Amino acid sequence: MELTREEKRILDGEEGEPKRVSMRILTRLGEVNGADRMIPIASAHLVACSYQIAGEAGIEIYARLVQQGAKVCVPTTLDPGSIDFKRWKEFKTPEDYADRQIVIAELLERMGVIPTWSCTPYYLLNVPRFGQDLAWSESSAVAFVNSVIGARTNRMSAYVDLCAAILGLVPRFGLHIPENRGGEVLFELEPELSDAFSDLHFPVLGYLVGQITEDKIPVITGLPGATFDQLKAFSAPAASTGAVALFHIVGITPEARTLDEAFLGRKPAKRVGVGLREIRKAMENMGVYDGGRVDVVGLGCPHASIDQMRRYAELIGGRKVHEGVELWVCTNEIVEAMARKMGYSDAIERAGGRIMTGTCLNDCPLSSWNFQYLVTDSGKFAYYSPTTVGTECYFTTTQSCIEAAVRGRIVEERRK
Ligand code: F3S
Repeated sequence: MELTREEKRILDGEEGEPKRVSMRILTRLGEVNGADRMIPIASAHLVACSYQIAGEAGIEIYARLVQQGAKVCVPTTLDPGSIDFKRWKEFKTPEDYADRQIVIAELLERMGVIPTWSCTPYYLLNVPRFGQDLAWSESSAVAFVNSVIGARTNRMSAYVDLCAAILGLVPRFGLHIPENRGGEVLFELEPELSDAFSDLHFPVLGYLVGQITEDKIPVITGLPGATFDQLKAFSAPAASTGAVALFHIVGITPEARTLDEAFLGRKPAKRVGVGLREIRKAMENMGVYDGGRVDVVGLGCPHASIDQMRRYAELIGGRKVHEGVELWVCTNEIVEAMARKMGYSDAIERAGGRIMTGTCLNDCPLSSWNFQYLVTDSGKFAYYSPTTVGTECYFTTTQSCIEAAVRGRIVEERRK
């Protein structure tokens, strides 16, 4: 890699230890991946901010960096932590565990990060623009900002994202290079699916596309339209069942105004037809029990938007969550504050639901709840919860999730 004189000075330690170590790590990363040089970034988003991911080793690294005077030099936001900072006691988080998460928060804040504690930073406080280079972790957010906004980031990893935030640089390789952003696998929705496409189908299609594409770049044709929230619901499972960091939806995402543009004029390496049969089959993999008992209903993965908060409140419609069932809505503090002003948070809580901010079902310790049966509308929760939370999972529509919370059992036949 060719470094500028300034970058060489940093590598020689002339700007202090945190920058020297960061430059050493990013240079190595660049060399391994064939980067030619460093490029400036507009923002960073860090993932090793939860105690679940960082652990004691993370605390040690952050404490050393703070002691050496490390500071981020671009707007840098944080993924969910492992506690709801306001209500960790209500969520039965052990006190010593919460204390360690608070230590991480204090250390990161001393480095100048913005404490968003959210996997949807692109809704607020860290909103990238088309063509900007970034250093983001959090797979669902990476897929979203690359694909829906047209910003450019590789899937960064824990601590490497912080190195980039400290330097304001990343090595130029992978998705930072426009020629590498062309589609590879073509998914063609059959007309019967296009005509019937609904909210439910976005996470299912994401789940299926991730499984088939793995780390390639998928291109989807035949989608009649998509809202911001629906694209978010697609991004998260696509980046979980596979390593999708960028997708194109022809006529919807900005680098895919035409099929030809999505593939950069090249031919797809593979073509996959998707109809209602494939969608039904994918849904069968998204839940292993056939309904009945419900312990917890988990909504807001990725973190809920204000419009989703409104929808939950409306679907509850003044009813009560069934005895013995928990309804948890995950979001960030800013959306929650707005939802409270607008009466949605109170409506959810009056019903007996809980709003969880700054963390999510997958990121916090839940063993004392003894949950066995989770119902969710999230493709990502459906994929991870059996291992992270240890629950069996039932994936369904948002409306059916709320019905399950209120009635205490699953009442729909989702696979029709
Ligand atoms: Fe966000 Fe947690 Fe889902 S980090 S994407 S709410 S698993």
